[in-house]
Amino acid sequence: MNKGGVVAIPTETVYGLAAVATHTDAVKRVFAIKQRPALDPLIVHLHDQDLLKTVAWEVPEKARQLANAFWPGPLTLVLPKLPVIPDLVTAGRDTVAIRIPAHPVTRDILALTGAPLAAPSANPFGRVSPTRAEHVIAQLGDDIDGIVDGGTCEIGLESTIVGFWDERIWLLRQGGVTQESIESVVGTIELYRPKHQDDIRAPGTMPRHYAPSIPLRLSPYQPSDTPSDQIARLTFGPLSKHDQKHSGPIFNLSPQGSTEEAARNLYEGIRKLDQSEARWIIADLLPDDGIGKAVNDRLRRAATQ
Ligand code: TXA
Ligand code: MG
Repeated sequence: MNKGGVVAIPTETVYGLAAVATHTDAVKRVFAIKQRPALDPLIVHLHDQDLLKTVAWEVPEKARQLANAFWPGPLTLVLPKLPVIPDLVTAGRDTVAIRIPAHPVTRDILALTGAPLAAPSANPFGRVSPTRAEHVIAQLGDDIDGIVDGGTCEIGLESTIVGFWDERIWLLRQGGVTQESIESVVGTIELYRPKHQDDIRAPGTMPRHYAPSIPLRLSPYQPSDTPSDQIARLTFGPLSKHDQKHSGPIFNLSPQGSTEEAARNLYEGIRKLDQSEARWIIADLLPDDGIGKAVNDRLRRAATQ
């Protein structure tokens, strides 16, 4: 990687497509491989908090409190950047998104390279994020220099992204750290609602995202003129009487009704059903609390036409 390689790496959230953040040719390849718009900036991964001062020129007190509470872990903080981080990485912004991951293999890679690593999720732009090495190989295998297999990602959803401006704390993306646990540290935060598609504060938050190749809709949507065996169900909790009789494919995100387990299985479930014979996926929403909120956010986006 120090020579400019682009390598898929595991993290506790999802697999990332990593390049040394200061190696602009490698970062260009990351954008090209993902077919990611140049306006959508990347997250920079660091080994430890001491390195923050090498990439950010200011760390607000509340950001420091969140860093102490949740790093290493699935939290990304958007902070004012230092010039060492190329404009390419931040898509020209004066802020950089930073995360200190918890996965032991990611931490070893960060220690060995001794460099900040820019890494978006290792999937083609707009598609489902990978939670196992096989997912990356299937989608990007031919284009990358290597992959480090760290097993199945424990959290299974991307990091929570938080920004600080106008004296407020903004939730830019729901994810692995719940809103409730962030609020228990810094008080109320606000869900940022982008004003338009190219909103400079919250890039990459378009409504349609995480999409399978067949249409996904939220239950109780009923596609017309489609036999039940061509409808796949993505369910949560004990199966209803109706689903027990369902003749199409079923993937249960968590038979016991655990939102954490459902988060871990979400992308695997969407992929499995996408590869089945079905022509539609009809998904159940989870209870709207804890990590269930982040799962529901992904399902709503996947269902956006
Ligand atoms: O869990 C994760 O965050 C994974 C793993 C690999 O760390 N990474 C990930 O990256 O989900 P990606 O590229 O799929 O999503 C990063 C998002 C961008 O779409 C953008 O919304 C936001 O981070 N972002 C990056 N830099 C930003 C900035 N300066 N200001 C606001 N948002 C930013
Ligand atoms: Mg992504």
